[in-house]
Amino acid sequence: MKIVGADVIPVSRGTKTLKDAVDAAFEAYLEDPITQLYAIGSVVGPHPFPMMVRDFQAVVGIEARKQFEEMTGGLPDNLVACVGGGSNAIGLFTAFLDDEDVTIYGVEPSGLSLKDGEHAATLTLGKPGVLHGFNSYLLQDNAGEPLPVYSVASGLDYPSVGPQHSLLKDMERVTYVMANDREALDAFFELSRVEGIIPALESAHAVAYATKLAKTLDSDKTILVNLSGRGDKDIDYVVETYGKEYGID
Ligand SMILES: Cc1ncc(COP(=O)(O)O)c(C=O)c1O
Repeated sequence: MKIVGADVIPVSRGTKTLKDAVDAAFEAYLEDPITQLYAIGSVVGPHPFPMMVRDFQAVVGIEARKQFEEMTGGLPDNLVACVGGGSNAIGLFTAFLDDEDVTIYGVEPSGLSLKDGEHAATLTLGKPGVLHGFNSYLLQDNAGEPLPVYSVASGLDYPSVGPQHSLLKDMERVTYVMANDREALDAFFELSRVEGIIPALESAHAVAYATKLAKTLDSDKTILVNLSGRGDKDIDYVVETYGKEYGID
């Protein structure tokens, strides 16, 4: 971000997670909405932000569909993508929603456990509620306030989710499942070692679920996994914190 000229201001309030960053960004925008532009990095916030981000991100799904057809002569049997706010997932899914034979999975972080504050499995454990100007599934307390959330992948720790994912869940078009911190870390090291591809910790949740899913499928079935980001940003943290457990001094 700095290389391309941005001033990066870390969020210092609340639990210092994505929700607090979105709160701070909205507040800054509302102070001067004439000369400032609000650009959100996920399919969240009031209309038209979820739609705009979905449409931009769908470029990835359209291209992935084309490349997959060129490589295999058909469509994938399964799609798997991680879900934080939900932008990389909806970007992939959009190109395949009308293809009934394609089974679609969104993977949420179950973190350390399913106790409040130790995960961010919004679609699995949340209830309908409003946050940041949109109505969707929300991890919330009895008063409707967002619950604290956690994942080893900082990009997944958001207590709500893009509203279209809520619709796709209710329509039963997409199945939302979970991967925990340990499964994501295992997948992070496995993909790095086997393929030489270091996935972002967020994407490692999709890799973890795809690995589990593959074991249940016939060997002629295919899975398209969305690698939403590279692990360069995570590698120092992962090696410092978990390296020993994975045989790295
Ligand atoms: C690499 C990467 N993947 C996934 C996400 C999760 O966001 P979304 O669910 O909107 O794709 C983030 C968020 O920061 C991210 O950095």
